[in-house]
Amino acid sequence: MIPHSRPLFDKPFSEAAQSVVSSGHTASGKQVAHLEQIIIQQIKGADGVAVDSGTSALMLAIRALSTNFSTHNTTARIGIPAYACASLLFAVRAAGCTPVCMDCKHDLRLDENKAWDIAPSLDAIILVHPFGMIEPLVKEDWPCPVIEDIAQAAGAMLDGKAVGSFGDVTIASFYATKPWGGAYGGMVLGSQELCTQIRAMSNPDASNFTQAYVGHHQLSDIHASLVLCRLASYEQEIQQRQKNILWLDTHLPQAYRQSINDRKVGNAFRYIIRVNGHADSMIQYLRKHGIGAAKPVQQPLNLATGETCGGASQAWKDCISLPLLPTLTCDEYKQYEDGLKICCPY
Ligand SMILES: Cc1ncc(COP(=O)(O)O)c(C=O)c1O
Repeated sequence: MIPHSRPLFDKPFSEAAQSVVSSGHTASGKQVAHLEQIIIQQIKGADGVAVDSGTSALMLAIRALSTNFSTHNTTARIGIPAYACASLLFAVRAAGCTPVCMDCKHDLRLDENKAWDIAPSLDAIILVHPFGMIEPLVKEDWPCPVIEDIAQAAGAMLDGKAVGSFGDVTIASFYATKPWGGAYGGMVLGSQELCTQIRAMSNPDASNFTQAYVGHHQLSDIHASLVLCRLASYEQEIQQRQKNILWLDTHLPQAYRQSINDRKVGNAFRYIIRVNGHADSMIQYLRKHGIGAAKPVQQPLNLATGETCGGASQAWKDCISLPLLPTLTCDEYKQYEDGLKICCPY
């Protein structure tokens, strides 16, 4: 089976992790500080804190912002895309706030009219660059703080600026299969004041007892060393995935070609096709023929909130993410081609 994701963790990764272990300092230290500096520079943020996951980054960002919310936390409303990873929903809940779903358009980015309608009632909004595409709404002036989520689009640019440099707060994920993935990890970028708050919420040993919860959310040097390795080969990886996007274009009938617009400005993270309501059966069929296709998101998040989001519900029935690996062997290209010929015939 050609797997849906296969990050390449070769010798430099094992050497990097080994050298951290050999140094005798595995918790948060020099590697984390170095990683933070590199990403702060790339995104041109004022400050940044590396943490243990993208979900923690979101939860901590919301908790830090909530000190300025006009309402009490439990009634604070946080806008999240309905067609997105469940981590967003759980991060909002873990911060003690109420998630409010925003529907998507056919191209899987937010339906701007619906988002603008909801925005005045929100205390904060999470804008995700989905599946390696760019969410242009990050450029707009929203009536509430914007958390820009670059978990899936890290490294992409918008109007000559790195994604992540638009929101009031930015979060990233270093989960293994993400573009900047090592093993686990994440990062929050924002003002120095906000990052100071997040550092205080991430280290119980330096905690202030007025806080309801402080957890060990710091990233370890082992995890940071893996991310640093990934960043070193990242440009090459994007180019290889872009090459494989073009390969998929030429091996799929027009009707199945990736429905994503403006993909040249994204980071080529996913190849998503739509199949008119047959996603589940088509995924099974593709897998039977050696292609590890998967749903881009496990469930639309409005199923949890009880809201109606027609675009997200339809995307869930239609959308399939095809393996878009940076490297494939000749045998794998052949297997992929043969599988596509059977499952998606011209
Ligand atoms: C858009 C988005 N944000 C945040 C996260 C959470 O990141 P992590 O898996 O590092 O907790 C994910 C995870 O899939 C994601 O897709």
